Amino acid sequence: MIDPDIVKEDEMELLLKDIFSLYDYDFTQYSKASLKRRLNRICMIDKFTSFAELRYKLNNDASYLPRFIEEITVNVTEMFRDPHFYKTLRDHILPVLGTHPFIRIWVAGCSTGEEAYSLAILLQEANLYHKSLLYATDINPGVLDKASKGIFPKNTLAQYEENYALSGGKKTLHPIMYLAMIW
Ligand SMILES: C[S@@+](CC[C@H](N)C(=O)[O-])C[C@H]1O[C@@H](n2cnc3c(N)ncnc32)[C@H](O)[C@@H]1O
Repeated sequence: MIDPDIVKEDEMELLLKDIFSLYDYDFTQYSKASLKRRLNRICMIDKFTSFAELRYKLNNDASYLPRFIEEITVNVTEMFRDPHFYKTLRDHILPVLGTHPFIRIWVAGCSTGEEAYSLAILLQEANLYHKSLLYATDINPGVLDKASKGIFPKNTLAQYEENYALSGGKKTLHPIMYLAMIW
């Protein structure tokens, strides 16, 4: 029987140092409570009988890193998540950015892409899309793959529409564009 609380704080610190020195990924600023939960979970799912075994795997098998990152990262996202932020962007920031010849926006942790697509919609509605370049990156290869497909579950539509309206959107998320995004 695997101990469901296999991860101890001091061991976790050692693992984070290993990952930083071996792979250059720095998880040291992540919420310790959330990391601990996720490390315990990965030990359970991948059947590591001790934390040392997980550490050994990461230290000796680079091909395990993507799997580890997929389990460790928190990928919660929504279109127009935090509508007030998007309203401020729409009403106050884009009009200023629009006075520049070229706009570049970097979504540094884009998850499955909802934030990047929301920004693209705002830029399109402000007639700035043609002179904009959006970069969307993420440490987790699985979510990036989903982001590049631009396909979102149908059951998210109502929430995303509500967020969009609260962000000052005057239209509906275009049905034809949206149908292409639905599975
Ligand atoms: C909670 S999601 C937020 C997604 C989106 N930015 C939003 O606000 O809706 C955080 C994302 O950041 C990514 N992430 C975490 N650390 C990262 C790092 N060091 N470099 C790139 N992406 C990272 C995670 O994989 C996750 O998909």
